[in-house]
Amino acid sequence: MKKYHFYSIPSTGFLALFFMITAPRVNAQTVTIPINTDSYTLLLQTDRNNILKTVYFGESWSAGAVPDRYRVGNGVSGDVPNAVYTPSGTWSLSEPAIQLTHADGNMSLELEYISHSTKDVDSNVRLTGIVLKDPVYPVEVTLYYKVYMKENLIEQWAEIKHNEQGDIKLQKYSSADLFFTESDFYLTTFHNQWANEMQPNESRLTRGTKVFDSKLGARAMLLQTPDFILSFGRPASENEGMVILGQLAWSGNFKLEFEIDTYHNLRFIAGINPYASEYSLAPDQTFTTPSLIYTISGNGTGEASRNMHDWARKYRVLDGEGERLTLLNNWEATYFDFDENKLTGLFKGARELGVDLFLLDDGWFGNKYPRNNDRAGLGDWQPNVKKLPDGVAYLVQEAKKEGVKFGIWIEPEMVNPRSELYENHIDWVIRQPERPEFYFRNQLVLDMSNPEVQDFVFGIVDGLFTENPELAFIKWDCNSVIYNAYSEYLKKNGLPQSHLYVEYVKGLYKVLERLRAKYPEVPMMLCSGGGGRADYELLQYFTEFWPSDNTDPLRRIFIQWNNSYFFPSIAVDNHVTNWGRQSIKYKVDVASMGKLGFDIRVDELSENDLLFCKEAISNYHSFKDIVWHGDLYRLVNPYENDIAALMYVNEDKSKAIVFNYLVNNLAMNTNTTNIKLNGLDAGKQYSVKEINLYPGTNSRMSAGQIYSGDSLMKIGLDPGLNQRRQSVVLELTEVDN
Ligand code: DGJ
Repeated sequence: MKKYHFYSIPSTGFLALFFMITAPRVNAQTVTIPINTDSYTLLLQTDRNNILKTVYFGESWSAGAVPDRYRVGNGVSGDVPNAVYTPSGTWSLSEPAIQLTHADGNMSLELEYISHSTKDVDSNVRLTGIVLKDPVYPVEVTLYYKVYMKENLIEQWAEIKHNEQGDIKLQKYSSADLFFTESDFYLTTFHNQWANEMQPNESRLTRGTKVFDSKLGARAMLLQTPDFILSFGRPASENEGMVILGQLAWSGNFKLEFEIDTYHNLRFIAGINPYASEYSLAPDQTFTTPSLIYTISGNGTGEASRNMHDWARKYRVLDGEGERLTLLNNWEATYFDFDENKLTGLFKGARELGVDLFLLDDGWFGNKYPRNNDRAGLGDWQPNVKKLPDGVAYLVQEAKKEGVKFGIWIEPEMVNPRSELYENHIDWVIRQPERPEFYFRNQLVLDMSNPEVQDFVFGIVDGLFTENPELAFIKWDCNSVIYNAYSEYLKKNGLPQSHLYVEYVKGLYKVLERLRAKYPEVPMMLCSGGGGRADYELLQYFTEFWPSDNTDPLRRIFIQWNNSYFFPSIAVDNHVTNWGRQSIKYKVDVASMGKLGFDIRVDELSENDLLFCKEAISNYHSFKDIVWHGDLYRLVNPYENDIAALMYVNEDKSKAIVFNYLVNNLAMNTNTTNIKLNGLDAGKQYSVKEINLYPGTNSRMSAGQIYSGDSLMKIGLDPGLNQRRQSVVLELTEVDN
């Protein structure tokens, strides 16, 4: 059997000498694999033992030899900290990217470079696959790097397969194992609570491992998201410095591990959380991990976000470059308390406002166990005959008469114990048969690993569309975590229970795949009691997501600000509701930074509030293209200032919309500093006009004033925010020189 020598010797110490004497060199030929985006390079190279390592990560260079940067000391343990996919049970004593037990019970794995190939998917997208193999056991891992050049974005995943005499057991199966060197690293992660989603937390990484994970199963991001910003050498800033901004695109349990090792290198391993998830892989199967998606920028988080937005719109979010429907939702207007008449009355409000669609929320179904509160009915997807005697079809038609489309809420993965579904199909429910049930919002989760449950869930949506072909929108909610993880289906089929968390998510994807094959275009909102689900794997099937139930516009500015690091505004739904004490103007202005919706009783609005809303919606229709498809610039950070300011610029820089808000109710005077704009054409002239003025108020901005893009970006302008003028929206239009 071959033995290995670790050629990089940190010193002429005793242990290094020991390796020299006992292990002969293999001296495999060096293979270098550049993974290039337009501006950055991840360089991989084999060593003499044929182990593929990360040898450089950073700006691309024009020509010349590979820098020596990562020829770091291999350490007294003889370890190779920069292996591209660290195995376990052999030479590595570091945290592994992959850990397994072979069919014969042996737990060792080595991965040697075998081959690689690169193909251009199109002029912007390049896919590299690298095959690694264990020289002793027939186990093969292919690492994929899909590069979106212009967006400086890499999507990385792995495929694991084998040809052993029986199943192998995967204890860990990461998506990516990255390695960086820098004097210091700062990491920002995002933490959730219901109604307080996307709270950022930045810290300097010190020695040891920081782990961010979820074990919640469904609604997996209820507490923590799989998003991260990694900043090199300094805390992340908007316009300067090297950052990597990304997400593990997986809708279930995830694990992100950031380890500063003893040499001060950073190892970053991301993947499905191995927690309770040992996976048995048969010889004819391939295990494909989810993707780690990250974009690189040398100019701070602003550019990184714009990279991510460009990529998401073009390649990931369903219909990301298309249009969206403005809407009126009835959740906060009625909660469960409505009937046909009340709803059709609300349709008039939707028409009056000028929105595109009416969205009927929770509470429309269940007969034996009517869904009149959140304790009953989930799972019984027949319209409640008392509330809706003429069914959904009647509502669709009545809405149409008012000139608005009709959409509907479902929560198809869930069940209340008080439901016919639970009574008839208890074996479809995730629960421990011998133990007391645990509820989250009085409900349980259906076993999506079961193909019958997948058919049932598909059938809910398919049935709605078959009966109502004009149904124009679906809100897909998911309000519970998984307690008592146990699958009757896996048990019956002799499959390990430890497959449940993974197969749940894969089952969900299968259903969505089928739905999108049949209904490719219908817009669908991803919701999970707010931001409990917002990942780029699910967003392939959804046009948008609901970031939080908290619609207090002040808090919402922060939630939207943080979501904007990762998601383009076209994918983020914001509604105007009764939450918060700010004016209707403030609420509408905030909700306009995304996909605008309302969740109010239009008939209860004052005359001026209604007039304002109608004008603001009409304005929104005139500038929404810039918000949905333009470039976002975060100008003034509300965490550091009394104000928040963000702007969107269209592609040819001829139009821009600037949103400014007072975020500190105690601030007396905010007009001492001009707000410097960004992303404009320095050589162009722009007229600046305040829009969304409340009836009876005048703008403090001089009408028709013209400024150069250069002066707006260098000197800036003062939107004149104060306690009586807390929200100001400015429209910039290019004028001829
Ligand atoms: C949670 C969602 O976030 C709300 O918008 C609403 O749809 C409720 N579920 C309905 O139960």
